[in-house]
Amino acid sequence: MISFSNRRRRRYLKNNIPFHVGIIMDGNGRWAERRGLPRIMGHKVGVESVRSVVRAAKKVGVRYLTLYTFSSENWQRPPDEVSYLMYMLRNLLIKEVDELNRQGVRVKAIGRLNMLSKEVLKALDYAIKKTEHNDELNLYLALSYGGRQEIVDAVNKIIKSGVKEVDEDTFKRFLYDPELPDVDLLIRTAGEYRISNFLLWHTSYAELYITDTLWPDFREEDFYEAIEDFSKRVRKFGKVV
Ligand code: IPE
Ligand code: IPE
Ligand code: MG
Repeated sequence: MISFSNRRRRRYLKNNIPFHVGIIMDGNGRWAERRGLPRIMGHKVGVESVRSVVRAAKKVGVRYLTLYTFSSENWQRPPDEVSYLMYMLRNLLIKEVDELNRQGVRVKAIGRLNMLSKEVLKALDYAIKKTEHNDELNLYLALSYGGRQEIVDAVNKIIKSGVKEVDEDTFKRFLYDPELPDVDLLIRTAGEYRISNFLLWHTSYAELYITDTLWPDFREEDFYEAIEDFSKRVRKFGKVV
């Protein structure tokens, strides 16, 4: 049986609009370094890009947008940078929640969230609760997220649950958020040709779009360009079309 969400996804894809867009927001540090500024300035300006892209995704009619906000591996950055990123995240959640709510955006998060501080978790929980009835755009923040960790965590949940055998559909039920669909379009900024442990399960047939533009420079128009590029792709899923 095809679920409602799957039917909706198919309709979207027929119209060449990606149902789920994932973004690896990269290049904040380089953006700042090129201007002789501290790296954190790149993160700060990158927040404006997040606002732009959320607006653009809504306009285009994308239903799921996952932003790679902080990876499992990013914990190994200098403590000052980690603290700043967490501080920014918390502020952003607190400051933007009303606007996101007004726009009908539903905020969700995936990752090893228990590694986040109490303060960040509180702001995150509040944003998730406050926006839980919205359904215009599902905005997923991948936080303390790693694709391999997600798979390992799923396997451990399966072992604990006593389930003895899984297929793809049952496996998916044990991921951080079973509702999160496959990624149709994966955008990476700053010209790096790698996945960096992002959504390994969900990107198996994603279309890749890599741009040299650094994240703090990536705005609405750049997002539309990526969507337009996607709309010209022929997706074959291994078949002959
Ligand atoms: C992306 O920008 C932001 C995060 C990973 C949190 P970077 O900080 O990785 O920027 P570069 O790659 O050093 O330019
Ligand atoms: C990926 O960017 C993580 C996020 C965008 C949050 P990185 O800058 O951490 O990835 P690498 O180190 O270049 O692979
Ligand atoms: Mg980087």
